[in-house]
Amino acid sequence: MAGKTMLAVRYDGYGGGVSGLKHVEIPIPSPKKDEILLKLDAVAINPIDWKIQKGMLRPLMPPKFPFIPVVDVTGEVTEVGPGVNSFKPGDKVIALLNFQTAGGLAEYAVAPAAFTVHRPPELPPAEAAGLPSAACTALQALKAAGATFDGTNAIKNILITAASGGVGLYAVQLAKLANLHVTATCGSRNVELVKSLGADEVLDYKTPDGAKLKSPSGKKYDGVVHCATGIGWSIFEPNLSTYGKVVDINPSLKSMLFSAVKKVTLSKKKLVTLVLSPKPDELKFIVELAKEGKIKTMIDSIHFLRNAEDAWAKSIDGHATGKIIVQIMNAERCSSDSFVNHCLEPKNIQESLST
Ligand SMILES: NC(=O)c1ccc[n+]([C@@H]2O[C@H](COP(=O)([O-])OP(=O)(O)OC[C@H]3O[C@@H](n4cnc5c(N)ncnc54)[C@H](OP(=O)(O)O)[C@@H]3O)[C@@H](O)[C@H]2O)c1
Repeated sequence: MAGKTMLAVRYDGYGGGVSGLKHVEIPIPSPKKDEILLKLDAVAINPIDWKIQKGMLRPLMPPKFPFIPVVDVTGEVTEVGPGVNSFKPGDKVIALLNFQTAGGLAEYAVAPAAFTVHRPPELPPAEAAGLPSAACTALQALKAAGATFDGTNAIKNILITAASGGVGLYAVQLAKLANLHVTATCGSRNVELVKSLGADEVLDYKTPDGAKLKSPSGKKYDGVVHCATGIGWSIFEPNLSTYGKVVDINPSLKSMLFSAVKKVTLSKKKLVTLVLSPKPDELKFIVELAKEGKIKTMIDSIHFLRNAEDAWAKSIDGHATGKIIVQIMNAERCSSDSFVNHCLEPKNIQESLST
């Protein structure tokens, strides 16, 4: 691909939100050792993408500017770097890009072979793109709360906050696969959806009872996958079982300190913070479940790369139901390879594809 260029969306510094995004034409990157070059089909936006732009992880991320954001991608292998034997040009794949170097909001991206899996034909690109970081975070949070997937669960009841979000909708489905009783919180418009994915009880977080997180059937939670923000320990504490554990996937200095205090004081009820630590086996496990139809990606909306700002704004707004997808493959390739099987609001897809 030497000398060829691609379209990409990147930013040159911290801040700026949607207006900080710049559409550029730049050289197609080359895969190095243990990397593969992908012609992208679809990518998913996650809150971490705009949080990095906002400077919430400064000075660690991004390591340098300009930076092309987005880590969750699907595409076709066009070139393999030295040392790669498991993929060849033409393979359809799902990948989790390196957070430090990212690169997903573009026509081509370099992926680490270790965090790339073949995309099964049953899984259309748009749905597959939603999986890597969101579903793996849901899986790791459930495991941290004590869930297992081999029938040896030590816990019974789980609470999932912000269950209508990108992580939460996978967490609900995975928790049911782990045979847990699931209580979930979301806004009223998503109650039926969250129930349809398996939640046993759903609380509208905007009602007084929902805000207290009380299980309608009086169950105490053995674990909490806490995807929302702004809920204090005093709200969780009375709802936890004796050894209940809250897994906070939005770590802050305050929650990390609180977590440490709970640990050193040998408190039975615990708060632990979790940051996704990508594991190839877990990505394979997730893709296998999706292939078998055991977990589904719910798509909030699909946007073209040229309208990446709309996808970015939608994520910043914080009210997506499921995943926000950016379609990279062109209409011709799209029609020869089903891009999406189901969508929450088919209207959202039609509108974005016709603009
Ligand atoms: N630690 C990690 O490694 C890691 C990995 C992935 C994500 N995260 C973080 O986890 C959070 C969730 O990620 P996501 O991708 O699921 O976000 P998301 O898709 O943007 O979540 C949006 C959803 O959350 C719901 N929501 C917001 N506040 C709520 C509340 N107080 N109670 C119940 N529902 C609420 C919204 O419902 P309404 O529209 O009805 O308000 C909306 O449906 C983000 O802050 C993200 O940065 C962390």
